[in-house]
Amino acid sequence: MTDEQLLGQARAAAAKAYAPYSNFQVGCAIESVDGEVVTGANMENACYRLGLCAEQSALTAAQHQFGLDKVARIAVVGGTDATVCTPCGGCRQAILEAAHLSGRDVEIICSSGDGSAVERHRIGELIPFGFGPQNL
Ligand code: THU
Repeated sequence: MTDEQLLGQARAAAAKAYAPYSNFQVGCAIESVDGEVVTGANMENACYRLGLCAEQSALTAAQHQFGLDKVARIAVVGGTDATVCTPCGGCRQAILEAAHLSGRDVEIICSSGDGSAVERHRIGELIPFGFGPQNL
């Protein structure tokens, strides 16, 4: 699957977000080493602090579908304008867990909502000196 196709899946997932409070829809698509893809979107709640990010939603699906240790690439799309949506700090930590399990410096492809800007990062770059399973 190309980066554009994976981003397309993330974009389709964003359209199914439940984000009536922020009106900021985020979608995430995760590809396994074997080419399987799962998606997730943010899901907010009237009790604001219970909101779930798209990445964590998709990581849960990934664990159930093929296992966090098989995570290869992640695509994130959010918002509506030209600002690239990168994972929040908590989601970086959650992605780092999968990276530690897989032994891979997972690639994260991030796009703006309007599709005009794309950035490619590695989780080790987004969260250097991270705290992971090996610290315990
Ligand atoms: N959000 C995500 O889903 N992922 C991120 O990495 C950044 C933020 C969601 C949380 C909330 O529902 C909305 O975007 C605004 O913060």
